[in-house]
Amino acid sequence: MKNYIIDKLEQIRDEEIISFHVPGHKIGKVFDLLGYKEKLEKIYTIDTTEIDGTDNLHNAKEVIKESQDRAAKIFNSDKTIYLVNGSTCGILGAVMSTCPPNSKLIMNRDCHQSVINACILGDITPAYIETKICKETNVLKGVSIDQVKKVIDNNSDAKAIILTYPTYYGMTYDLEEICKYAHSKDILVIVDEAHGAHLELSEKLPKSAINLGADIIIQSTHKTLPAFTQSSMIHIKGHRVDYKQILSILRILESSSPSYMLLASLELAVDIYEKYGLNLMEELINRIEQLKLRFESNLKINIYNDMDITKIFISLKNYGITGYELDEILREKYKIQVELSNFYGVLLICTIGNDNSDFTSLETALEDIIIKYKKDKLIENIDYPVQIPEKVFNPRDAFYKKKKLVKINDSIGKVSGEYIIPYPPGISLVSPGEIITQEIISYIQLGVKNGMIVSGIKDSNLEFIEIIEE
Ligand SMILES: Cc1ncc(COP(=O)(O)O)c(C=O)c1O
Repeated sequence: MKNYIIDKLEQIRDEEIISFHVPGHKIGKVFDLLGYKEKLEKIYTIDTTEIDGTDNLHNAKEVIKESQDRAAKIFNSDKTIYLVNGSTCGILGAVMSTCPPNSKLIMNRDCHQSVINACILGDITPAYIETKICKETNVLKGVSIDQVKKVIDNNSDAKAIILTYPTYYGMTYDLEEICKYAHSKDILVIVDEAHGAHLELSEKLPKSAINLGADIIIQSTHKTLPAFTQSSMIHIKGHRVDYKQILSILRILESSSPSYMLLASLELAVDIYEKYGLNLMEELINRIEQLKLRFESNLKINIYNDMDITKIFISLKNYGITGYELDEILREKYKIQVELSNFYGVLLICTIGNDNSDFTSLETALEDIIIKYKKDKLIENIDYPVQIPEKVFNPRDAFYKKKKLVKINDSIGKVSGEYIIPYPPGISLVSPGEIITQEIISYIQLGVKNGMIVSGIKDSNLEFIEIIEE
């Protein structure tokens, strides 16, 4: 009998792919390097449940509490809570514990879908902040301080603001200033730091929101530190947060049988962070700095990583190669897996799990690709639709309304019944309850023709879309 998932995963593992994607342990390489192999080899033998001595994540008093307290000290938070259902459940918990039904939440439009899902579950009204976008790369750059202040001023009854910091692409902005402004209006600050658990490992990286005045910070430990997928943390700072209320919501959202393998993996990540993190990060940053210089001088490739330098966006558009093509060529011909691609380039997530040989392989591959795949024709531009669509219904009302399927080209001007989310990066262009525009439909149709994957929408062929019946 065939084992479908296991067989496939083993086949991919045996291909010995070079990982510039998550999880941060890079196919376990960092565990082997640092001597954790033996501990992990029989990890299944510590798969247990709440029995005498193992404590309880939902009411931690013993070993889990001690481990969380240690993490809090290392990450400089007042309280840290381990999560076994990713930052997704941390975001849902943070939002739903701070924003009661019918209240308002301010958020950046390019938020992760879990933020809008929190509005559906919690019957919360979103107030969006426009996001900046780099026209040359379609890289999302985060919010501008002026825009944030404007939306706060127009929505001063909001309970909280949630911001993605850093963005998926490692972009940051003056979060400290935003925290001060929001607090002056009595608005609580939640930060989706899913992509920033590693930030405090070097002064060359932007500061973590934990040290910039935010109240609740959610980190996907598994993305940029060596933890297993789904292992995340919530950090709490200061006096504004009702810690017990967060725990109460998490008891509703999270499994009543949290995996001890994931909890153990969080503790391992904390251990590695404390003992080896600074040195490994210094080595990583040195490698990336040198690589960047060589790329720019020898290969004439721009790599965009101005802020969090561990996130590298490479564009070969000057060589006529789209990001989708580069993604495919790297994986198929050079066994290099990137994190995501858009039309203009690919995003690489580098962590303390990447070693020298990964970067050498990357450099050799790119040199070769430019010679073999270079085209004379420049690639055409695709403009990312930045306009926030007009909202007719709140996400929750829209979610429960009666819907009907229409041809996608007939949906323009109608109220969407579903999401349109190019994935990755998983940012919703249209959410349920918003008007579908020509700009958005043209963007996804052109994108899909060039290799983009669109999720959220039930008809993956993009022929039909659900709209809300009048
Ligand atoms: C910005 C952002 N926030 C939150 C999440 C959710 O994180 P997790 O995968 O840990 O649930 C993601 C996942 O990709 C993300 O990109």
